[in-house]
Order: sequence, then C-alpha cells, then structure tokens
Amino acid sequence: LPGGKILFEDRTLWDFSSNNYLGLAQHPKVLEAAARSAREGGGSGASRLVSGNSPLYIELEERIAELKRTESALVFSSGYAANLGLFGALIDKEDLILCDRLNHASLIDAARLCGAQLRVYPHLDLERLQHRLKRNAGRRRAWVVSDGVFSMDGDLAPLPDMLEICERYDAILIIDDAHGFGVLGERGGGSLEYWGLSHDSMIVVGTLSKAAGALGGYVAGPRVLTDTLINRARSLIYSTALPPAALGAALCSVQMIPEMKEERKHLGKLSRLLCSRDEDPAIPIVPIMLGESKATLSAASFLREQGYFVAAIRPPTVPKGTARLRISLSAVHPLDAVESLASLCKTLATLPKSDQ
Ligand SMILES: Cc1ncc(COP(=O)(O)O)c(C=O)c1O
Repeated sequence: LPGGKILFEDRTLWDFSSNNYLGLAQHPKVLEAAARSAREGGGSGASRLVSGNSPLYIELEERIAELKRTESALVFSSGYAANLGLFGALIDKEDLILCDRLNHASLIDAARLCGAQLRVYPHLDLERLQHRLKRNAGRRRAWVVSDGVFSMDGDLAPLPDMLEICERYDAILIIDDAHGFGVLGERGGGSLEYWGLSHDSMIVVGTLSKAAGALGGYVAGPRVLTDTLINRARSLIYSTALPPAALGAALCSVQMIPEMKEERKHLGKLSRLLCSRDEDPAIPIVPIMLGESKATLSAASFLREQGYFVAAIRPPTVPKGTARLRISLSAVHPLDAVESLASLCKTLATLPKSDQ
C-alpha cells in the first residue's frame, strides 16, 4: 500500500518488511509508467533472444549503465536469474569460488550450480579469505563472491580491502549489490559509489526489485562482459523476457533514483534513530537479534498487534541461533512511526515465548 503500509488479515499495518526502500513501488510516476507500458501487452511473448526484446529494455539498460557509470548493463528477469546466468556463463568446475558465509541464497545456488569448487569463509573474515587465496595461489582461477550490503544483517562488505586482496592473489571479485543500489552513494549508484570504486575492477550484479520497486536483475560492466552473457547466460537465453509493465516501472525508477537525495537523507535519519547511532552510511536493514525462532515469532506477532508488520527471519534463512526481526525501513515512513517502533523494540526481550 502507499505510505509505507500493508494490508494484513483485513488490518492496515505499518509495513516494515518490504525492500521498497525509496517507496518507489507505489510512487505515482512509477505506477503511471507501468500502466502506460502495460498497454503494449500483458507479457512479452518470448525470450529476449527470440522476439521478447524491446526498446524499453534497451533504454533501461542504458539508464542503469549511466547510473552505475559502466560501459553497459544487461537486464535479467530477476536478481536470482542474473546470478545464475552470470556464474553459469563465466565459471566452471576447474575454478574456485570463495563465498562469504552470509551471502544471499542466490549466490550460493549459483556457485553450486556452476560446478566450481566452493569454499565458504566466515562472515567478513578477510584473514581467512586471504589465507584460502594464498593456499590456492596459481592452482585454479579464483572468484571471490560477496553481498555488497548483507541482506539479513545490514552490514557492508569492505570492498576496498576485498579488492586489494583479490588483486594481490589474482582473483576476480563479484559483488551482489541488491541492497546497496538506490540507497548508497550520493546518486544512489550503490556500494561502489559509496566506496569510491570503479566498476572496471569487479563484476557487479543487482536487482530492480528492492529500492527500484519493480522487477528484474542486472549485471553492469564492460560491453565485452554483457556481450558474453547475451551469448552464454542460460537464465537469459532460455527464459521469457520481462513484461512491458515491469520494464516501464523499472525504467521510471532508475531515472528517478539519482534525484532522490532527500529520500536517502530521510532514510538515513530513520536508520540512525532505530539503531541509536550516528554512523554513516545509514542502511535501511536493521536486525533485532532474538536468537530463538519462538521468541522471534512471538515478537513479530506482538508488533503486529501494535500495528507493525515486521518479518521474523529464522533458520535456514539465517544461521541457527540467530533468528531475528528484520526491520526494513522506507523513505516513506514518517519519523514518528519509527520512533514508536523503536520504543516497542526496547520491550521485546521481556515478552513471553509464543507456542507456535
Ligand atoms: C543479495 C540478494 N541478491 C539477490 C536477490 C534476488 O533478487 P530478486 O528478488 O530480484 O530475484 C536478493 C533478494 O532477495 C538479495 O537479497
């Protein structure tokens, strides 16, 4: 619903569960663009490589490349499909993939499916990452894979340090910036803009389903990379193109994102308020760690009674013993709603356990 709300069992609650960080999913301009594009058809009819491609795709890719400051971008039907397509096209069983333990499931699945040797390193443990790369030196082609902003914890991967390590050991860095795009950086370009890094140094994947409030995934980088993917990424080649409405919505959002500085500022204010800290950057994902699943379900149900819809995240989505409420902030949330949520969160530890 507009204004950061959600309809749940006939009640309208504050929605603190969606990844609609800038409120673009319900923005009137985005809705209008989607409706206009929908007149071209409910679906696209075929894969992009057959007859499903359209000028909307081309313009969307140009706008993403412009925002990311890359030579080109390639749009897939989702972020999940982008990861599957990218890994399958570039990586094979002779290669080594080093994956952060808390990476998103789509990265883990993509790594498993491409058949490479997969090694998982403890969350953000760059010593261990370095150690593994050193042991591998010269044996296999190595890829280091990480979320840019971790989806369940809201912390940042230290990209400059990771890049330095990758360069030292001749590994290629792949960053999934699903939660940084639109939110981080002055223009909302994402993690690389925030860290002041160039896209030439790594491969970046992202999604249009979170801050951009639409649907679709992308890989941004040099033309040689996107050309290779057009010819080799199976999730692109063998899947029907996105419907015009989704492309129209995504295009409108991507055009709006660079200008949404005030929204990013407000989001930062909300995040700092909820976390009671002054640090930058302010990320819209705030986990409230409760440990056990029962306590987390009980806390989520208590918050719903108070008018707040917050997701209870439990294993296997997160490691055992780290069940949590995952609060997702949006620029459309008013300050007082977040103030009330912050004070409710302070009482959560004292709640009785639910028997669900
Ligand atoms: C880090 C990360 N990568 C990829 C995805 C998948 O994106 P999509 O929902 O567009 O398939 C998500 C979303 O859940 C995510 O959090």
